[in-house]
Amino acid sequence: MNRIHAWMLTTAVATAAGIATPALAQDARPAAKPAAKAAAPAAEVSTVGDGELKKLIALSFHSKGPATLDGVLQQDATQQACSQYPDRTHVPEAVAKKIEAAEIKQVKYPADGKYLGDWKEGEKIAQNGRGMQFSDPVGGVNGANCYACHQLTKAEISFGNIGPSLYQYGKLRGNSQAVIQYTWGKIWDSNAFSACSNMPRFGHKGILTEQQIRDVMALLLDPASPVNQ
Ligand code: HEC
Repeated sequence: MNRIHAWMLTTAVATAAGIATPALAQDARPAAKPAAKAAAPAAEVSTVGDGELKKLIALSFHSKGPATLDGVLQQDATQQACSQYPDRTHVPEAVAKKIEAAEIKQVKYPADGKYLGDWKEGEKIAQNGRGMQFSDPVGGVNGANCYACHQLTKAEISFGNIGPSLYQYGKLRGNSQAVIQYTWGKIWDSNAFSACSNMPRFGHKGILTEQQIRDVMALLLDPASPVNQ
């Protein structure tokens, strides 16, 4: 079950139907006529089932290019389980353990044992936020947009902080086989190490290719990379 405010529903339906939202309609009323129910309780909260919410999403959006309705509405078991909790910190430990155990089985390590590519390419991939949007070509090459959530280098001052800073990642952790394998697994399937992570499952969902992951790995772990200066 998802708890959403009644006004969100009304606004989304109104927008989908191409009509003015209730808030706008109210603003347009003559000023002399005061709002009738000024004292009414402010936040009306209703409980909407998943089925209703899916119908509403299907009504409000349409597929275009690589951004498809199915991509939003079809959830795998992990996404379904994670949707039950408002955020990651609310996932019960037993549920988290089950998800992580299932996700780690999905990690594919490079068959040739080559984990590290070219950090210069990795930096371009980490900077690139294109791919999988309605305005992108179907089957095009995707960026990783790591900077949207992480600090990585000192030179780049524009970065998000949903995720921890990865500045000096390799310098601080070294590049033992254990660190290399963990980092690959984390990028391939973030949920293998923290259930219901906000970080995309780059390998598992086919967002990045194996070679792109090697390049991003080098960005994090190569001693010559600006991440480790
Ligand atoms: C949408 C936000 C988001 C994006 C994009 C993202 N991450 Fe993350 N990342 C997170 C969050 C949040 C965490 C911390 C929680 C967790 O571990 O899942 C994290 C954790 C990590 C960790 C583990 C850090 C540790 O201390 O062990 C690594 C490594 C990492 N990210 C690398 C990357 C790389 C490389 C990219 C780009 C290919 C990337 N992330 C893109 C959100 C993101």
